[in-house]
Amino acid sequence: MKIFLDTAELSEISRLNETGLVDGVTTNPSLIAKSGRNILEAIADIAAVVSGPVSAEVTATDYETMLAEGRKLAAIADNIAVKVPLTPAGLRVCHSLSRDQIMVNVTLCFSAAQALLAAKAGARFISPFVGRLDDLGADGMGLISDIVDIYANYDFATEVLVASARGPQHIVDAALLGADVVTLPPKVLDQMYQHPLTDKGLDAFLQDWAATGQSIL
Ligand code: E4P
Repeated sequence: MKIFLDTAELSEISRLNETGLVDGVTTNPSLIAKSGRNILEAIADIAAVVSGPVSAEVTATDYETMLAEGRKLAAIADNIAVKVPLTPAGLRVCHSLSRDQIMVNVTLCFSAAQALLAAKAGARFISPFVGRLDDLGADGMGLISDIVDIYANYDFATEVLVASARGPQHIVDAALLGADVVTLPPKVLDQMYQHPLTDKGLDAFLQDWAATGQSIL
């Protein structure tokens, strides 16, 4: 399963990219706004740090303007995935850009029917938002399960990118379902390392080791 970072903060991306665990980055207009940066400069900087796909989202809603924005974003670097909303115009843009071999990430997916249309439009990634569904009392992971099954039935090339992840359990559940990608805020990746028994066990090993007076180096 690929791990993407869901942030536009370059310092966090650089810090976590050093782990060797980061396969890509997703951004959205809210994350760009939070970073306080110009979108074109921010995306260029991120795409230079991370070699995998970097999603950059269009901000228009009509076909022509979205297409022009998508082409401009895609020209920033070879690893840009243009993010479009799951609307009729967005899927038309997805179809046009995909035909030109540009990666497209279809975002704001909340149903299996929507995911089916995105795959038929040639999306490289579909982004179902599990956390926002869970927030409403709906079953975010149930949606991932349905999409994984549907895509397997027809051998669609579209990768299931689990978005709006709130914690490590979402990542584990996504992996159990065979989702292709999860995108997570930096703090969730930090949380994935943690277990109290790891800390306790390491403390004990270090104490016992110190008592020996030995050194490996
Ligand atoms: C996905 O690409 C989105 O940027 C993101 O996962 C949305 O997450 P949120 O629901 O925490 O805003």
